[in-house]
Amino acid sequence: MKKVLVVQFSQSGQLTDILHHLVTPLVEDSAVELSYYTISIERSFPFPWDKASFFDAFPESFLQIPYDLKDPQNEVLYQKYDLVILAYQVWYLSPSIPMNSFLKSPQAKRLLKDTEVVTVIGARNMWALAQEKVKKQLLEVGARLKGNIVLVDRNINHISVITIVQWMFTGKKEKYLGVFPKPGVAQSEIEGAGKFGRVMQSYLHEKGTDLQPALLEQGAVEIRPFLIEMDQKANKMFKIWANLIIKKKASRPTWLKVFNVYLFVAIWFISPLVYLIYLLKRPFINTKIKKLKAYYQGVKTYV
Ligand SMILES: Cc1cc2nc3c(=O)[nH]c(=O)nc-3n(C[C@H](O)[C@H](O)[C@H](O)COP(=O)(O)O)c2cc1C
Repeated sequence: MKKVLVVQFSQSGQLTDILHHLVTPLVEDSAVELSYYTISIERSFPFPWDKASFFDAFPESFLQIPYDLKDPQNEVLYQKYDLVILAYQVWYLSPSIPMNSFLKSPQAKRLLKDTEVVTVIGARNMWALAQEKVKKQLLEVGARLKGNIVLVDRNINHISVITIVQWMFTGKKEKYLGVFPKPGVAQSEIEGAGKFGRVMQSYLHEKGTDLQPALLEQGAVEIRPFLIEMDQKANKMFKIWANLIIKKKASRPTWLKVFNVYLFVAIWFISPLVYLIYLLKRPFINTKIKKLKAYYQGVKTYV
């Protein structure tokens, strides 16, 4: 019998839906015993979001400040598993506060030590550096990252910004104004996630094989090099903003409003310029892009 644990948290239910389809082959396999753990922490976040709460989550998300688990005694956390599926969403280019809190908890440190892990990401489209942060954490607790599956909104970057804002602030995953595409991960991709579950099922029974190349054959990770470049640049700027805002106490709300303005300018004015520069240099950086794709599609880490 193979024991598998699914760890997750989802506000809208999108990630839960992805997982539901993904693990179906494992649910139907009588030689696999599945357990579930939904992360619950000592800080709550509204859904749909309001503007103040949305920006208020920035400093702690980016600086990866954890909160205590609400149920540290949950018995599923005290067993050993053949595989742990860690499913998370990205908040401010970092693992969401619930997932970060889980990863930094003593329970996760114990649970994940010497254990194989597959990460599943359900994000807008900027996930690459968040995964680097998760890789680092996994390395620190002695887990073995074997696979990574990424489901994102495949629409043009700026379209996905407009539609996700609408979704996050209304709670409705609908076509904005009837003309924009639906926000988030496409329903067809959510429902097709079982193909990754089947790869994981074969891996569980056969072992010895390499999991990530088999997942990649099923299209588990699509790399858009420009988004990685933006992710890297934005991480540098976010570091300055987060370290500044975290020190503010009474004036924090005002600083978060200033950060809101910065983010607006960065998305709508700076990033198109960076994209233009990227297009100009694109023909001369083929080797760099090949290496970048290979690295971010993989599960190894530079550290
Ligand atoms: C506060 C906040 C920040 C987010 N930041 C990012 C981000 O940096 N990159 C990204 O690709 N998606 C980002 N998203 C989108 C989420 O990763 C995710 O797709 C969305 O919240 C749906 O997840 P759910 O399953 O929890 O409903 C953000 C969402 C929220 C609420």
